[in-house]
Amino acid sequence: MLSSLRRKATQTVLRATSTQNVNNSPVWAWNEWDPLEEVIVGRAENAICPPLTHEVKANTYEYWWDYYNDNAGKPFGGVEHIKKAIAEMDEVCKILELEGVTVRRPEIIDWSKDVKTPHFEAQGLYAAMPRDILMTIGDDIIEAPMAWRSRFFEYQAYRPMIKDYFRRGANWTTVPKPHMSDELYDQNYPIKNVEDRHRLAEQGKFVTTEYEPCFDAADFIRAGKDVFAQRSQVTNYMGLEWMRRHLAKKGIKLHLVSFKDPNPMHIDATFNIIGEGLVLSNPDRPCKQVDLFKKAGWDIVKPPLPTIPDSHPLYMSSKWLSMNVLMIRPDAVLVERDEIPIQKMFESLGIKCIKASIRYANSLGGGFHCWTTDVRRKGELKSYFD
Ligand code: ARG
Repeated sequence: MLSSLRRKATQTVLRATSTQNVNNSPVWAWNEWDPLEEVIVGRAENAICPPLTHEVKANTYEYWWDYYNDNAGKPFGGVEHIKKAIAEMDEVCKILELEGVTVRRPEIIDWSKDVKTPHFEAQGLYAAMPRDILMTIGDDIIEAPMAWRSRFFEYQAYRPMIKDYFRRGANWTTVPKPHMSDELYDQNYPIKNVEDRHRLAEQGKFVTTEYEPCFDAADFIRAGKDVFAQRSQVTNYMGLEWMRRHLAKKGIKLHLVSFKDPNPMHIDATFNIIGEGLVLSNPDRPCKQVDLFKKAGWDIVKPPLPTIPDSHPLYMSSKWLSMNVLMIRPDAVLVERDEIPIQKMFESLGIKCIKASIRYANSLGGGFHCWTTDVRRKGELKSYFD
C-alpha cells in the first residue's frame, strides 16, 4: 500500500518536472526544433591536428591520411585557416544574438599539452563541436564519455558553464569515463582503404570494441519522448545501453537506427530531425528503419546535393555538412550562406533561412548543428512518434 502510494507521489513529481520547466532550470530542451533560447557555440581556438591513431584512421578519408601524419600536433588546417574559422564563428554568435538567443562559449584551452592517464598518452583536439560531447534532455545536461583519446579531456572546456547551470538548478550527468585503453579499439580493424571500411561497416563491425561504454553525444538525435541513435565508429552498444537505461528513467525511449553508411560517426549529417515529424534524410545514406517513420506519419525529406567545392578542405567529414543545420524556431533555420539549393528547399517547406558562412569552420568537421549544443528551448516533453 505504502509503496504504491509512494510510487504515485513520485509519478506526480516526475510528471510535473518533466513536462513543464516549473523549476526554471537554465537547462531545458526536449527536441531539435522548439524555439531556441540559449545555445553553446564551439571554438576553433587552439584546434590541434590529431595523430593518425587507430580510431582516427577509422573515421577519416584515405586522402587525408598523409595530412594527419605530417601535421599531428600542429594547428588544425594551419594558423590562418583557424583565424578565419574563429571569425566565422564569432559572426555566427552575433547572428544568434540578433535572433534573441543567449550564446555561451567554452573556455580557451591549450590543447597541445601532452596528457597522460594510466592507460594512454595523447594531446587534445579542440572544443569546436559541443554537439559531440554535450546533450540536453529536459533539465539534464549530459557529458558524453567520448571515444577518441584526443577528446578524453574535452569536457574541461565546458565545466565552468556546466557548474554554473548546476548551481542554478540544472541536473548534470557525466557518463562513466572510459579507460580508453588498447582494449577499447580493435587493433586488427583492417582499414587499408575506404573499400575495407565499406565492407566492415556493412557487416556491423567498427573500430570500437565492447570493452566499456563509449559514445559521442552527436550519435543521438532528439524528438521528445523518442530519441534515435546509431552504433558508429565512436558509439558502441554498451554506450547505447547505458543511455537507454538513463533515458528510460525519464520516460524516453531510445531507438537504435542504422543507415547505409560506410563511415558512421555522428548522426546529424545523415538523419537530422528538424521539426515535428519532419526529418532530413541523407539520400546517400538511406535509413534502414525508414518504414517506422513513415508509419508514424513523418515526412522524410531528402536534401539536395551539397555545393561545397572539391577544392575546399574537409579534414573530418563529407560534404553533407550542408544538411547539418540548426533550427532556431520551428519556422527558422541557421543555414550556410552559399548552399543555395538547400535554402530553396527550406523555403518551400515554409522555413525561413537565416544565413551565415562557416566554410572554414566546416573544415574542422562540422556544420551548424555540430558547432552548437542547445541548452534551452521553450517547450514541453511530448510524443511525436506514436
Ligand atoms: N560524419 C559526418 C559526415 O561525414 C559528419 C558529422 C559531423 N557531426 C558532428 N556532430 N561532428 O558526413
